[in-house]
Amino acid sequence: MNDFIKSFWENQALKYGQSHIASWGDIYCINLEIDNIANYIHQGDSVLDIGCANGFSAIAQCGKKKLSSMTGVDFSENMIAYANQNKQESNYRDILNFSVADICNLPFEDNTFDVVYTTRVLINLPSWEEQKTGISECLRVIKKGGRFILCEGFWEPLCRLNAIRLLAGLSPLVEHDFNRYLKKVMLESYLTSLEYSFDNVDFSSIYYLGSRVFRELVTDYESYEGFSNPINEEFFKIQSHYSGGGFGIQQLYAIEK
Ligand SMILES: C[S@@+](CC[C@H](N)C(=O)[O-])C[C@H]1O[C@@H](n2cnc3c(N)ncnc32)[C@H](O)[C@@H]1O
Repeated sequence: MNDFIKSFWENQALKYGQSHIASWGDIYCINLEIDNIANYIHQGDSVLDIGCANGFSAIAQCGKKKLSSMTGVDFSENMIAYANQNKQESNYRDILNFSVADICNLPFEDNTFDVVYTTRVLINLPSWEEQKTGISECLRVIKKGGRFILCEGFWEPLCRLNAIRLLAGLSPLVEHDFNRYLKKVMLESYLTSLEYSFDNVDFSSIYYLGSRVFRELVTDYESYEGFSNPINEEFFKIQSHYSGGGFGIQQLYAIEK
């Protein structure tokens, strides 16, 4: 299973090189993720981006605040090769460091970073048991008093979106083969059992309603490639004024260590 997922990402890297599309075509949702993660990163922090792909988001974070270091790791050698190319073309060569590593076995000492974040990475692990191993590794390498920003895809909002789609006569959305969305209820009870306190931010709810439901109802959906439907941009703009609602598949948990 992991081999299939790894070769999928190695091929995405070769196909899309230095572009954000190697990770995802949905630039609006990527920007929502980057902005919401940035709220939990402070000036001077040492930051670890796990599953950083070609470094698109890690480099964007460096542009938001002056960090002491930004380390990115990914299990795909091809992604890291392109991340290093993006690093060379960036203004942050002195603080960026990209290398190959697996989220379930991180090559860092305990208590190393102020902030660790994942974006759509734990959902690549094939079972909840492995996802918990990944979460423990992330928590292990954070300093006491630091933050783990877990920004992932969740199952419950997918079910809500599909309920609305059903009412509108639309077929259900399904996860990609290489994804296993996290269940909010399982994650929250796991974190509570470990006595971590956390905030949950549902930052993409309105955007998902527009880009994954209304798109078929109010636009000629079939005539737009990828994420080019103009309704995406409209709902991205509305999303910046509202949050919550429970429909955002991409959500963030900010966990205090
Ligand atoms: C959907 S992409 C997200 C990339 C990036 N975080 C972003 O925000 O665009 C998932 C990335 O996670 C990486 N990945 C998947 N499983 C991993 C693992 N077990 N350890 C490290 N990286 C992994 C993939 O190679 C891929 O680059």
